[in-house]
Amino acid sequence: MAKSTKVNKKKTAKKNLSVVDALRTVVADCYALMGQTHLCHWNVEGPSFFALHTAFEEQYTELFTAVDEVAERVRALGSYAPGGLSNLAAMAGMKELPEKSPAEKMVQHLATLHAKLIADAKTARDLAADVEDKETEDLMIGRIEVHQKTLWMLESYLKG
Ligand SMILES: [Fe+2]
Repeated sequence: MAKSTKVNKKKTAKKNLSVVDALRTVVADCYALMGQTHLCHWNVEGPSFFALHTAFEEQYTELFTAVDEVAERVRALGSYAPGGLSNLAAMAGMKELPEKSPAEKMVQHLATLHAKLIADAKTARDLAADVEDKETEDLMIGRIEVHQKTLWMLESYLKG
């Protein structure tokens, strides 16, 4: 095998590992965000209770399905999916909200976490594009769209 081909193969392997690492971060982000959204669903109080309680339920339900798909993409790429709540929390590095928090603070907090997830999904999307892994790229584009839409809704609520 020519030296340059070997080097290229090595480079591709390194990049592939980066895609997997980035996807594993997205899995951790999804779990952390799901937990925080659940916390907000349970503990939200005030005049917006019914609207937010329902919206948060829709969001964590969607996340639960999505995280499975992302984790299984990690497996399809030949790596293991991360698990364990403390491990996922450490990997995601997302701030956690106190149980008793004003509704507005909850929405602001979740908006920040969605923005973090979008940034990490964009990293995974771009790394996948570099190695022409169109399936992962497509998966990440879909996730970014969902979280951008949710972010728009949360930010719209805050303008009220
Ligand atoms: Fe519930």
